[in-house]
Amino acid sequence: MSHWTVWFIRMSLIYFFLATLLGLLMLLWPGQGWIYLPSHTHLNLLGWMCMMIYGVGYHILPRFSGKPIFSETLIVVQFWLANLGLVGMSVFWGLYRLNAQGLFQGMLLLSAIAETLAIFLFVYNILRTVKPAG
Ligand code: HEM
Ligand code: HEM
Repeated sequence: MSHWTVWFIRMSLIYFFLATLLGLLMLLWPGQGWIYLPSHTHLNLLGWMCMMIYGVGYHILPRFSGKPIFSETLIVVQFWLANLGLVGMSVFWGLYRLNAQGLFQGMLLLSAIAETLAIFLFVYNILRTVKPAG
């Protein structure tokens, strides 16, 4: 397994644990749950689910295609954008719901843009890699 595949899988498992812990805390403090809901949802879906898919996808899809991944460099850029974007979204979404300040809203937007770019890079790299068999 490549270095970056291992790191995507490690981060996925860490987000899974953090998201679950947050879900549990939301049950323990029902009145406050809505503040942390988007962080819980996106840590689970963009963290646990998507990071696992990125890691496994980068490992397995080029092998199914019988050719190497289109760009190793894009994987590294995507790793950092996806992780910084998700951590930023999770922290600033909670802070913004606690206190609707322009700074938190701006940081949330910036993080969401980083996350969107990361998704675009994954889509682009995989589309340039996959091809029909034969
Ligand atoms: C021990 C594990 C978990 C706990 C305790 C937990 C807890 C919660 C709680 C308290 C809510 C808020 C519900 C509400 O008040 O409307 C919620 C929402 C949600 N959770 Fe979890 N959760 C867990 C695992 C997961 C996992 C593994 C996923 C996805 C992979 C997930 C995805 C979601 C989503 C998408 C919502 C939003 C649903 C909506 O908008 O109605 N949760 N969870
Ligand atoms: C750049 C990536 C993403 C951005 C910027 C984003 C943004 C948003 C926004 C603005 C909301 C509405 C929250 C509110 O009610 O105030 C939302 C809700 C939701 N999103 Fe995303 N999303 C992203 C990716 C995803 C992905 C990849 C999934 C699923 C695989 C997902 C699943 C959900 C779900 C289930 C909800 C409803 C539960 C909740 O309110 O937290 N999102 N998202």
